[in-house]
Amino acid sequence: MPPVQFHALDTLSVVELAAQARAGLLREAATVSPKFFYDALGSRLFEAITELDEYGLMRAEATIFSSFGAVMAGEARARIGRPFDLVDLGAGDCAKAARLLALLQPARYLALDISIEHMRPALQRMQHEHPGLPMVGIGTDFSDRLQLPRTLCPGPALVFYPGSSIGNFDPQAAQRLLAQARELAAGGALLIGVDLVKDKAQLQAAYDDALGVTAAFNLNLLRHLNRLIGSDFDPRQWRHHARYDEGAGRIEMHLLARAALVVRWPGGERRFAAGEGIHTENSYKWTLPDFAELLRGAGWRRAQSWCDAAEGFAVVLAS
Ligand code: AVJ
Repeated sequence: MPPVQFHALDTLSVVELAAQARAGLLREAATVSPKFFYDALGSRLFEAITELDEYGLMRAEATIFSSFGAVMAGEARARIGRPFDLVDLGAGDCAKAARLLALLQPARYLALDISIEHMRPALQRMQHEHPGLPMVGIGTDFSDRLQLPRTLCPGPALVFYPGSSIGNFDPQAAQRLLAQARELAAGGALLIGVDLVKDKAQLQAAYDDALGVTAAFNLNLLRHLNRLIGSDFDPRQWRHHARYDEGAGRIEMHLLARAALVVRWPGGERRFAAGEGIHTENSYKWTLPDFAELLRGAGWRRAQSWCDAAEGFAVVLAS
């Protein structure tokens, strides 16, 4: 059994991440990237979110894969028509790809995640279950740019981006990422999960649940910032806010100051008026026609989609 290979591509240093976070806090409308949600506790809170009654995304997606996974895999393999690498974007614990491996039968498995540490145990476990399959763990932050050295991924590839994390990108950035995915696929295909536009109250409940798990997930970002930049955020002085903006087609999450306050860190500070906020996440929802258009704009010509019964979520195969 070959050992799993690991590559740290752009080792976004803690110094750079801290600089990004400080710059976001100092913008006129304070904004911090949703990538800062995912420290150890944040990742566990996100897993808890996926268990909530109100947050059906992951269950819907899992249903789609279990109902249509074999059809999708057959279609993907037929379209690519030769051996391909499976490139998993934001692989995390690699669980979703693991369930599709037997159907997809890729030549190699390449798992990309901002945190190599997150993937390490999962990949090592997978390697035991698929001893003949070469596996590579790649630590990279593809939120600004998705690109791999050709030596690591010569293509063709099936780029796998489940979970509807594409929703974190505004339409222009989403199109850019999908175009970069097309370059990376090098004649292969894309298999992507997308959360669809649905009833506003249902959408808002998914991001403002009864148990307050999403509130904890959002507030935890302040603890992460305190460690990253040495700030003195007190989560008790902030509250979670989530609303669906129908015009923009997105959920916005904010943290709002409960009272006027000052946050300090070594070398800087930021004043917040009562009710002023930090924008922490956008989660775009798509209609299938608009998403098909987005894919076309990124150079993908043929798209086919599968939905859950409620038509709240779609998995799209594009080539
Ligand atoms: C991981 C980006 C798909 O937008 O639904 C869940 C993150 N934020 N609840 C989403 C999230 C609040 C999630 N994604």
